[in-house]
Amino acid sequence: MQTNSRRQLVAGNWKMNGDKALVEQMQKQLAGASLKNMDVVICPPFPYLGLFDSRVKLGSQNISEFDSGAHTGEISIAMLHEFNCEYVIVGHSERRADNNESDELVAKKVEQVLKANLTPILCVGEPENVREDGTFFDYIAAQLDAVLSKVGINQFSKIVLAYEPIWAIGTGKTASPAQAQEVHAFIRGCLVKQDDNIAANIVILYGGSVKGNNAQELFSQADVDGGLIGGASLNPEDFLSICQAANQ
Ligand code: 13P
Repeated sequence: MQTNSRRQLVAGNWKMNGDKALVEQMQKQLAGASLKNMDVVICPPFPYLGLFDSRVKLGSQNISEFDSGAHTGEISIAMLHEFNCEYVIVGHSERRADNNESDELVAKKVEQVLKANLTPILCVGEPENVREDGTFFDYIAAQLDAVLSKVGINQFSKIVLAYEPIWAIGTGKTASPAQAQEVHAFIRGCLVKQDDNIAANIVILYGGSVKGNNAQELFSQADVDGGLIGGASLNPEDFLSICQAANQ
C-alpha cells in the first residue's frame, strides 16, 4: 500500500450564477476563515475572475481547446493565466450535454490545460439510467480512458478528478457516502494498474448535492478528497461550512 500526501480540496462551481455582490461576500467570508488543512477554489463565471483578490484561488468552468484566433465566444488558457486562474473544470456533465462535448474533446481540453501548467479538474460520472442498469463502472472507465490515452498516466500527477453522478447534480439526491466511496475506490483502482504512486496521490472530489449537513460524512470516506460544489457554493455561509468539514 502506497502512502499518500493528499490534501482535501473544495471547489465552488458557481455555474451561470452569482453577481458582483456575491464576489464581495464570498471573499469576506473566506478571508475571515481559518482553513489551514485544505484548499479552497472558486470557479465563478468568466467576467468575475478579475474581481477576486489574490487570496482566493481561482478556477474557470471551461477552456477553449485552441490557443487563440477566430473562435468567437471562447476563452484561451493564456487569458486565464493573466487572471491568476490555477484550475480549470473540464468535462462537466452540463457542458458534455449542453455543448456536445465528447470524450475526445474533453481529452483535448485537458491537454491544453496541462500544457499551460494549470490544473484540470476532470469531471466524470454517469447518468441515472446507467446507474440503474448497473454499467456505471464501465461508463466511468471509458471517460477516464479517453483522457488517459491522450495525455498518458504520468500527467495524472497534475490532474484533479471529480466524480459527479449526473443523477445527484442539483437534485438533492446526494450519493450515499458508500456509493461515493465505491466509485472513488474504483477510479483509484483503474489508475493503480498503471502507476500506484500516482493513483495513491491523485485528489478525487465528489460532486452532486453536497451540503453543509452531508459534507463531513462524504469527505471522511477513505477515497473522497473533498468536493465540487454547485448550489451550496452560492451561499457563503453554507460554502464555508462545507470547507470546514474538509478542514478537519
Ligand atoms: P450541486 O452541488 O448543485 O448538485 O452541483 C454539483 C456540480 O455540478 C458541481 O460541479
